[in-house]
Amino acid sequence: MLEKLENLKQQFIQEKEGVKNLESLNDFKIKYLGKKGFVTSLFSIMKDLSPEERKDFGNHINKLKNEIEDFIAQLSDTYIKMETEKKLKNEWLDITMPFKQNKFSGHLSPISRITFEIMDIFKNLGFSIFDGPQSEDDYHNFTALNIPETHPARDMQDTFWLKNKMLLRTHTSPVQIRAMETFDPPLKGIAPGKVFRYEAIDASHEISFYQVEGIMIDKNISVANLIYFMKTLLSEIFKKDIKIRLRPGFFPFVEPGFELDIQCLICGGKGCSVCKNVGWVELLPCGLMHPNVLKEGGINPEKWTGFAFGLGLSRLAMMSYGINDIRWFASGDLRFLEQF
Ligand code: PHE
Repeated sequence: MLEKLENLKQQFIQEKEGVKNLESLNDFKIKYLGKKGFVTSLFSIMKDLSPEERKDFGNHINKLKNEIEDFIAQLSDTYIKMETEKKLKNEWLDITMPFKQNKFSGHLSPISRITFEIMDIFKNLGFSIFDGPQSEDDYHNFTALNIPETHPARDMQDTFWLKNKMLLRTHTSPVQIRAMETFDPPLKGIAPGKVFRYEAIDASHEISFYQVEGIMIDKNISVANLIYFMKTLLSEIFKKDIKIRLRPGFFPFVEPGFELDIQCLICGGKGCSVCKNVGWVELLPCGLMHPNVLKEGGINPEKWTGFAFGLGLSRLAMMSYGINDIRWFASGDLRFLEQF
C-alpha cells in the first residue's frame, strides 16, 4: 500500500517538472486530483484496510495531496500573473495616438462649427454665453421686447403657437430679457440658438434656423461701440475684406435700429437665389437697446445703455461655406454633411 503511495510521490516529483504553462497545469490537476485522478483512486482503496493501516495511510496520502495542492496553487498564481503581463504587453494601446479617420466617423455639422467659432471670438472679447428655452412665453418673445399685443410688428414674424399658450421662439431676442433678469449690468454676452417661424420654405427660408443674439450693456454705449464690435466680428469670421452696407432698420426693441447687409458671397453680388437677385444678404440686424426693453429687464435706462444684435447664423454658415440652399442643413443628406 505504502509502496503505491511512494510510487505516486516519485511520479509526482518527476511529472511536475513537465508543467510549463496554465494549460498543462490544468491537465496535471485533473490527472492527480480529478474525480478519477491518481490521488482520488488511492483514497478509494482505503476501505479495504484495517483501521490502524487506514489511519497511517490516510495521513500519508493527505500529506501528499496537500503537497500537490500547494504546488498547483503556487504555480497557477505564477502562470496567471505571467499571462496577464503578456496580455497587457500585447494589447498595449497609445490613447494619445491620433485616430484613423474613417468614412463613418462623426463630425460637427456646419452650424455647430460656426457656432463654436463665434463663441470663441466673443469669449476673447470678454462676452459670456447665455442660453434660453426654445419654447417661450409671449412675454419674453414679444411683450418685454416692446412688442405689445396689438403691435403690428407681431406680424413681422409668423409664429408657431403651442397648445399650452407657449410658442416656439421666433428669434433669440427673448434671451436679452432673460439675461437682464439674471445678471446685473455692466453685462455683455451672446446667446446662440435655434429659432422657428411659420414661413414658406425656399432656398433662403426655413421654418427653423439659427441665430446668435448679442448684447452689451454699460455706461455710455453708443452706435460707435456697436459698429466697432460688428466690424470686428465680421473680419474675425470671414478673415478677408467683405463689402458691407448699413441701412436703417425697424425693430421695436432697438432705437435707432440698423440692418447690416453683406455682399452675397455665393454670387459675388451678381444676384442669385440666396440673395434673391439683389446681390446683398441681410446678415446682422442690430441697434441700441430700446429704453423700454432695459426697463423690462429691470435696468435703469437713465443710467445704462446698450446695443443688441441678432446674427443670422444659418445665413452666415451659407456665406462662409458657400452653401447655396438653406434646405441642405436639415436634409440629412450625407453627401452634404460629409463635406465638413
Ligand atoms: N430679433 C430680430 C429678428 O430676428 C433681430 C434683431 C436682434 C434685431 C437684435 C435687432 C437687435 O428679426
